[in-house]
Amino acid sequence: MLIKVKRGWELSENLATPEKLFINRRQISKAIAAGSLLSTSALLATTYRTDAYEKNINSPLVNKLAPRNEKFVLDRPLTSEKYATTYNNYYEFGSHKNIWKQAQKLTTNPWKVSVDGLVEKEFQIDIEDLLKKVDLEERLYRHRCVEAWAMAVPWIGFPMKQLVEIARPKASAKFVVMRTVSESKKEMPGLKQFWYPWPYTEALTIDEAINELAFIVTGMYGKPVPPQNGAPLRLAIPWKYGFKSIKSIISFSFTQTRPKTFWESLANKEYGFWANVNPKIDHPRWSQASEWMIGGSKNDRIPTQLFNGYGEFVSHLYKNLESENLYR
Ligand code: MTE
Repeated sequence: MLIKVKRGWELSENLATPEKLFINRRQISKAIAAGSLLSTSALLATTYRTDAYEKNINSPLVNKLAPRNEKFVLDRPLTSEKYATTYNNYYEFGSHKNIWKQAQKLTTNPWKVSVDGLVEKEFQIDIEDLLKKVDLEERLYRHRCVEAWAMAVPWIGFPMKQLVEIARPKASAKFVVMRTVSESKKEMPGLKQFWYPWPYTEALTIDEAINELAFIVTGMYGKPVPPQNGAPLRLAIPWKYGFKSIKSIISFSFTQTRPKTFWESLANKEYGFWANVNPKIDHPRWSQASEWMIGGSKNDRIPTQLFNGYGEFVSHLYKNLESENLYR
């Protein structure tokens, strides 16, 4: 007999999901059973939308039938869409949290992605063609920013492993380096801040990139991911501090050597390459022991968990790397 053992942080779904959404999920099952093609995402859609994205609800970026992957369960209520889409870090638009209106200027259509470096054959692909080659699904993930705020979000996207398979890296490739679009200072006024090492660059080891948690996001809350959250393509790497989850990606480069990432180039004593969440290793300027949920009070603290609670998926990746600074 197959017995499902609950993990420490795992709650039953009706405790993890706000009641309204839980009821909606029952409605979904009924609707699907009744033969109607209503998707989870469509029913989960809440009211907070920008006009442009309202129109896009049938976009291939979300695909109405993207099923929820039930393996990833939350230990807290979902963050309301309103807060997740209006309290953002996206320095290309400004070094403060209120960038969402300015970000609507970002041109995301057409959008091409380059795959280059140590791959069988370098190529560029239009995002719509890329999406034909992958399987979209919905996942509920926690997100922990290095600044000690957190959120819980229903992302839509596909496992990064599928991208790596499409890229066909050579055996010599050890890292995947990703870059954010940085072409237009008009669209992205933050780029005028010349002291930042643009373009925003992040990287993972290949082993991290093919780990089942590494997720390439194209939607959230049942809609295409809005510009302020990294349209049309961003990462969600939930066991690492949020700065690893790079937004609006235009290239995936496979390399043998470890690159310098954006925050590492800027302040390597504070932000490193690995950046795995660890409540016991403080940031040089603040404690990482606890976090607060956006939309709530900064005084309502939740204890932070090692690897943001995802240790069972990823701790093995770091077994022989104890000499590295794994937690900043
Ligand atoms: N990607 C780019 N290109 N530029 C950024 O400034 N900020 C990072 C990450 N990805 C950032 C980025 C940080 S610090 C965090 S915490 C998350 O995006 C925030 O994601 P959110 O705005 O969707 O919550």
